[in-house]
Amino acid sequence: MSIQQNLKEMNRNDQILMTESFVKQNLKDYDSGHDWWHIERVRKLALFINEMEVLADPFIVEITALLHDSADSKFAAENTEKGYLLISDFVEKSGMSEISDQVLNVIKNVSFSSKNKSGNLDDPLLWVIQDADRLDAIGAIGIARAFNYGGFRNNKIYNPDIISSDESVKEYPKSGTSSTISHFYEKLLLLKYRMNTLTAKRLADERHDFLEVFLKQFYKEWDLSTGIRNSR
Ligand code: ADP
Ligand code: NI
Repeated sequence: MSIQQNLKEMNRNDQILMTESFVKQNLKDYDSGHDWWHIERVRKLALFINEMEVLADPFIVEITALLHDSADSKFAAENTEKGYLLISDFVEKSGMSEISDQVLNVIKNVSFSSKNKSGNLDDPLLWVIQDADRLDAIGAIGIARAFNYGGFRNNKIYNPDIISSDESVKEYPKSGTSSTISHFYEKLLLLKYRMNTLTAKRLADERHDFLEVFLKQFYKEWDLSTGIRNSR
């Protein structure tokens, strides 16, 4: 039996294990907001959403969730195209050629920030993975990841000149400006409205409310410290 045939005979569990090690190897240089535990959470969320909604084959969901960040140009390969090649090479060598196109289509389109979306955007597999990835960017974990990323980039936690707790003067900053708090307005507070599935919308509600509670408390504490300074 040829090596190719041998690989085809591997069962799905082996393929999942192989994908886990490929991803762990690939992620080792990532920041901690994009680490293995992000992948693990997205896998769980994606499998849960898919179980509730019955949109795709759970095996493909699991493989795609595992691989979804492997081509992120911010951290991984020197450029995104190279990242895609690396992934399709892995998928094909691991006897999963038949799902290669589907997996790659999701990886190319999953990112909130990805400007060059192309291919099939009307894909239930994409909806599931995208929702799972977006859910991990909001709620308590989303907040932790945002401040972690901000620290990694040496950004300020907050810049009151750009964004204020006073709704009347609140300015929605352009992407890439200033602080981690502004990232809430650039992205995090929008995610709840961009969920594809009903299950994710439900999960997003609670996480979104927590973002609002967090911001309220943040501004309360910030304004109090200003008040104390001014009263001296
Ligand atoms: P995606 O790949 O889903 O578009 P990113 O790779 O841009 O997401 O972001 C990964 C994580 O880092 C997310 O939790 C996101 O909210 C956070 N993040 C991205 N950009 C910023 C930023 N400018 N400030 C704070 N957090 C950020
Ligand atoms: Ni991700």
